[in-house]
Amino acid sequence: MPTPIIAPSVLASDFANLEREIKMINSSEADWIHIDIMDGVFVPNLSMGLPVVEAIKRHATKPMDVHLMIVHPENYVEAFQKAGAEYISVHVEACPHLHRNIQQIKSLGCKAGVAINPHTSIVELENVIADIDLVCVMSVNPGFGAQKFIEHTYTKVKQLKKLIIESGSKAKIEIDGGVNMQNAKQLLEAGADVLVAGNFVFSASNPIEVIKQLKSI
Ligand code: DX5
Ligand code: ZN
Repeated sequence: MPTPIIAPSVLASDFANLEREIKMINSSEADWIHIDIMDGVFVPNLSMGLPVVEAIKRHATKPMDVHLMIVHPENYVEAFQKAGAEYISVHVEACPHLHRNIQQIKSLGCKAGVAINPHTSIVELENVIADIDLVCVMSVNPGFGAQKFIEHTYTKVKQLKKLIIESGSKAKIEIDGGVNMQNAKQLLEAGADVLVAGNFVFSASNPIEVIKQLKSI
């Protein structure tokens, strides 16, 4: 099993001590910083916006993986690229012109990701899988941290892995929501490459140790 990419989700961090939290990630074995952007329309919650992403960038030494849970992402993609995003993911359910959204992200020099909700079939990705760098498989319904992992995710990851191999795509499989030591190994065995972890990391008394454990599964 290849070593997973670990992406702590700052949604679960202490926003009043964001510099300290980002420095913790910098000094850990984490690979990316996962940043959740919510608009209160596509998902029933608000999170953070561009000024916070810019503030994270001032301290971050690791790539920022920006997960846009917003409608009309085309209006903001360039601003997130300017704010320092390396990966930008948009939701298939929020993008009637998904192909255009992907091309926009790539034209700005960012890596393009597509996120899919728990109810969305892998089939929806067939016509774009060869064009993208990342698939963010939601293993909870997006909008909140600290939710329960949906077990059906394993089946979807296996289906997605098959599609990626058959299509010759280089897309990485990222799992987002409810990831912990109970499900991480099985997710990697199913074909996952990237594990996002919010609550599991930031609610721990020793987040650096938890990241190390996830990294060395
Ligand atoms: C959910 C977000 C996730 C969330 C994961 O809408 O996309 O990235 O922060 O948090 P945990 O790991 O606590 O489920
Ligand atoms: Zn996310």
